[in-house]
Amino acid sequence: MIYDKLRTILYPGLERNIVDLKIVESVKTDNGQTVITLSMQNDEAFEVLTERIKEKLGAKTLVERKEALKKSIHYGHTAHPNNRAPYAKRVIAVTSGKGGVGKSTVAVNLSVALAQKGFKVGLLDADVYGPDIPRMLGCAHETLRWGDNDKIIPSENFGIKLMSVGLTTPSPDTPLVWRSSVAVSALIQFLEDVDWGELDFLVIDMPPGTGDIQLTMAQELPLAAGVIVTTPQPVALDDVSRAIMMFKDIHVPIGGLIENMSYFIAPDTGKRYDIFGTGGGEATAKKYGIPFLGAIPLDMRIRTHSDNGTPPTAMGDEAVKNLYKEIADRLLGVLQ
Ligand SMILES: Nc1ncnc2c1ncn2[C@@H]1O[C@H](COP(=O)(O)OP(=O)(O)O)[C@@H](O)[C@H]1O
Ligand SMILES: [Mg+2]
Repeated sequence: MIYDKLRTILYPGLERNIVDLKIVESVKTDNGQTVITLSMQNDEAFEVLTERIKEKLGAKTLVERKEALKKSIHYGHTAHPNNRAPYAKRVIAVTSGKGGVGKSTVAVNLSVALAQKGFKVGLLDADVYGPDIPRMLGCAHETLRWGDNDKIIPSENFGIKLMSVGLTTPSPDTPLVWRSSVAVSALIQFLEDVDWGELDFLVIDMPPGTGDIQLTMAQELPLAAGVIVTTPQPVALDDVSRAIMMFKDIHVPIGGLIENMSYFIAPDTGKRYDIFGTGGGEATAKKYGIPFLGAIPLDMRIRTHSDNGTPPTAMGDEAVKNLYKEIADRLLGVLQ
């Protein structure tokens, strides 16, 4: 009865209820008083849910929060996700609190760095509203191809396989106006109907923020790690805190945080400028007990290589390559 009522309560911002999300830790009745214990991290969402629960179950209901969640990369138990990608040994989701922070650039260069280490890597562009990966890998003008086995043949460049909704549209700049349920079905098809072969890593470039697509991926795939990209300014860090708390709530293991556009070194003088402030990413990682994977400077070579479809980790100079290689090494260390 109580569970039926709780099942009508949705997690703020998502179309999923708190019972299915395994956020309801326990329901007890003590001398006529109902006590609901929630296992969650997000303070704002906790307040909203407390109100919603009291509305449904009566104002006297006590809503508590389970304290002392483990500070490992595996928060609580995973919600027993499906596995739509049994061909991949590990699935890495690259996410961010907001757009434009360099998430896709990280996804591409992390993938290339892993491929350079000899791993078999597939990159799925799940950012259906900004599918930039084909351009960044120099495949923007390719279109979808089907193999004899009725599977989609992924594009391939710089040693990685790639699939993106960007490859399904007639031209690279066709806008996509999809409802999230349509986007989710397209992504599931990419997981199941693409001829990825055996992969050591499936890297997913997620849409920014926290919504249905992120949640679906967390439920349909056993994510080995979420990698969160942020820039150092306080507004971006606020968004990233929200994203971290949601990932903890839906049991996505967090592999670490990357601070992008962290500082700028003037090519002529060598002087360092902390344009957006610096160190905020590392402090945020510490605050939430998640690994800090590294800082990437604002560097024109990263932008030009990315725009030209020649990833800096493949075609850039050693200094730039090393930035992403070191991040890949740290991530591998976290995953051990
Ligand atoms: N470290 C960096 N230095 C310079 N330009 C960068 C850096 N990271 C990303 N960019 C550029 O910033 C823009 C946004 O990056 P992108 O990866 O597309 O962000 P997101 O996927 O988060 O929206 C792109 O033009 C990209 O080339
Ligand atoms: Mg992007």
